[in-house]
Amino acid sequence: MNDHPYQWTHKDLLDISQLSREDACHILDVAASFQEINRRPVKKVPTLKGKTVVLFFVENSTRTKTSFDVAGKRLSADTYSLAKSGSSLNKGESLKDTALTLQAMGPDVIVIRHPSSGAARFLADLLPCGIVNGGDGWHAHPTQALLDSFTLRQQWGNDFSGRVVTILGDIAHSRVARSNVQLLTLLGAHVRLCAPRTLLPAGVHNWPAEVYGDPDAAVRDSDAVMCLRLQLERQQAGLLPDLAEYSRRFCLTPARLAGAKPDALVLHPGPMNRGLEIADAVADGPHSRVLDQVSAGVATRMAVLYLLATRNEGASAPQQGE
Ligand code: CP
Repeated sequence: MNDHPYQWTHKDLLDISQLSREDACHILDVAASFQEINRRPVKKVPTLKGKTVVLFFVENSTRTKTSFDVAGKRLSADTYSLAKSGSSLNKGESLKDTALTLQAMGPDVIVIRHPSSGAARFLADLLPCGIVNGGDGWHAHPTQALLDSFTLRQQWGNDFSGRVVTILGDIAHSRVARSNVQLLTLLGAHVRLCAPRTLLPAGVHNWPAEVYGDPDAAVRDSDAVMCLRLQLERQQAGLLPDLAEYSRRFCLTPARLAGAKPDALVLHPGPMNRGLEIADAVADGPHSRVLDQVSAGVATRMAVLYLLATRNEGASAPQQGE
């Protein structure tokens, strides 16, 4: 018998490393209950009525920004967006002054995406409202990892032990890879990483993952393969001699995927460079869960907004039928 019912205690969601396995499973369980709402004809409940969510995106985004917006609106929160373009950041206003200005309007949660690692932590230390890291530099993208595990859970159930997940591509510049290695291992999966040597981060051999240089060996007998985008905009010159050569050696093609388990799942956080890191036939093929990831992103972000915005109200689980 459990004498201590679970209680969410975090003000912010900045990084998977702050979560216990119980925290992570709780987010995924709450997301599953919200996924049911997303299948209703009327996809709106009053759970966060009166709450305010600010989407503060200093870097481009399609999936993360839109899904946080949809998530907030489906829970009846008021959502407002501030992008770098059109804001006073472009007149030289500092991140601190911008954050204090947003706080003065009384938000319950701010979701921030920023090109600098540590920007979300900076806001969390500065402001009393909840902060969600929507991706900071190369550091972390915790809700991406959560939605990826939510997608895998829909196929595998809650137990990831014995599952092999291969992360293939530009690991060095990937906040998605960093957060996924932490979460997948927390949930019991075995992670393989595969990239050209120049796209592996310093210290990768200390990560809780097996490192491969040969993609065919890495993909062999995997239960899931997560392709990563080649982040051309973050690359210093000279890391890749030739994109055609990268594609030839590392692209996830049907032939390469054939080495994985017959029911292997293919994930990609998006946006995809089709033909570079993933072939069309794989991206659009029967193993692909890319669009399921997008749907999972709404449910997962509903859960995160709900947990942060109601943290001081003693709520432990949303009521069905709300
Ligand atoms: N996966 C992801 O973060 O996508 P966006 O950059 O479109 O938000």
